[in-house]
Amino acid sequence: MKNYFINGSKYLVDQQISEINKIGSTIIDCAKEEGYIQISTPYFENYELFKNYGKLNTLTMTKLIDKDGEVLVLRPDATIAAAKIVSSVYKNSKEVIKLCYLDTIFREYKSPKNYGRDFLQGGIEIFGLDSPEEDCEVIEMALKMLNQIGMVNIQLDIGNVAYQEEYFKTLNISENCKCKIKNLIDSKNLSDLNEFLKVLDIDSTDKYFIKLLPNLFGEFDKTYKLAKNYCKNSLMESALNRLKSIYTILKRDTSLNLKLDLSFTNNLNYYTDLIFKVYAGSLHVPVVSGGRCNNLAGDFGMQRPCCGFGINVNFIHEFWEEDSYDSIVHIALAKGRVHKEAMKQFEKCGLSFPEYSENSRKLLFLDSTGTVEIILVKSPDVPIYVENGAADIGIVGNDILLETPYEVYELMNLNIGKCRISTAKLKNTTINYNKKLSVATKYPSIANDFFNKKEMPINVIKLNGSVELGSLVKMSDLIVDIVETGETLKENNLVEEEKILDISSRLICNKVALKTKNQQVKSIVNMLKNLELKVED
Ligand code: PRP
Repeated sequence: MKNYFINGSKYLVDQQISEINKIGSTIIDCAKEEGYIQISTPYFENYELFKNYGKLNTLTMTKLIDKDGEVLVLRPDATIAAAKIVSSVYKNSKEVIKLCYLDTIFREYKSPKNYGRDFLQGGIEIFGLDSPEEDCEVIEMALKMLNQIGMVNIQLDIGNVAYQEEYFKTLNISENCKCKIKNLIDSKNLSDLNEFLKVLDIDSTDKYFIKLLPNLFGEFDKTYKLAKNYCKNSLMESALNRLKSIYTILKRDTSLNLKLDLSFTNNLNYYTDLIFKVYAGSLHVPVVSGGRCNNLAGDFGMQRPCCGFGINVNFIHEFWEEDSYDSIVHIALAKGRVHKEAMKQFEKCGLSFPEYSENSRKLLFLDSTGTVEIILVKSPDVPIYVENGAADIGIVGNDILLETPYEVYELMNLNIGKCRISTAKLKNTTINYNKKLSVATKYPSIANDFFNKKEMPINVIKLNGSVELGSLVKMSDLIVDIVETGETLKENNLVEEEKILDISSRLICNKVALKTKNQQVKSIVNMLKNLELKVED
């Protein structure tokens, strides 16, 4: 029978409904106790309006066409909707306006356990004040709500988007270049950032600083001091000073685990100053995201500063259903040549895995201290484990990362597992490039990109291995595959035609593990940095 469930749509049963309702009502009750007024924002919004707000992904918005032919979206964001309401309902008010809401947001989200097309979000927005004290009021409200909900192992990261924004204004490069750099910082794609900077005509101090930006987070005082050294003007300094004031107020609660993060980019495009995220338990997603967006209400004709946050109720519910804080660092390694060499090197660094041997059929190996676990997976699965938080870090070739984009940080080019992706054909054959070619490959996306750039559309035949057979049995004209030593091509009577790109292994990291297990992740990264990993044939 046909399955009529739509991927990413949710249903809840009995107890789950009560639990979700309880989390939601705790958020609203907390806010109302402090005098916040509850609003409910419209389900239907104007597509044009939301299209203009930076990185709200228009592709993943749920669009509808109304009877007049106008394109609408189901509410993809609460803050923009709240700003719109304020500037209409409270147009003439001079008072501070404090609003709270509990609304379904129709935007895609991913967590280790779920993929959803919508989630329930509770939050607050204050319109009318702009001071460090008010920033703290907002943050403290988020912490109070989490506390009343029963969340533990809270980590708060604060940053200020103005620090980066003011710095980028000092660079004499095109907006496109700035955008590219910001995206690479945002995705912590350090290897591509390095490559991009190599050819950029800017000062070497600027290059050094930009390379530092993705890692400019950690203990407050240390990070603050470092960031201060790179201030190029008073605006960057004011951004830092604002954070210092916030820190001083919040740290009156000495038990608060508070870090500074200046790598936060303005990814929703509406933040102007403070930006903060709260992590809890061993959840691999931030449960609270918020910040200051002083120009947002102005876009709707009412100049009022605004600060607020949203709590993802569904994430919290996942935490409620099952949480045990996990302090082990899980490393996903691609089974095969790279894992064998990596294991040797880990052992050289003093990590020993008593149950490991090259011929073992086991897939999980814990080290003798019980703090590091190796997970052996198929190479294309490495980023899947890391993205979903089943592994904190992973080692995988950039062929896999280029073929399918994943929400992971690429921290380092390990310069191991070096090879290339090339086109190849049967020896002594002539390829007729004037006809539409068929190409057998494990990499349909890379192959299509390559031939599309040459304006030569192809028929891709997707194979899962032994790609050389594609040409050998004359199923395809060409193959696109990995070439390392060239032995496989030679033994199968094939010859390399053209190199598409160079491949090497990359160290990738789960986005939240980089925060919540920062020390452990850093020590593994440093250990690998010091290694000359060589892959055996
Ligand atoms: C890869 C690749 C080639 C071979 C190239 O295959 O697909 O077949 O290695 O290496 P070489 O140039 O050193 O001969 P892999 O061993 O991963 O197995 P697969 O063909 O099943 O994917």
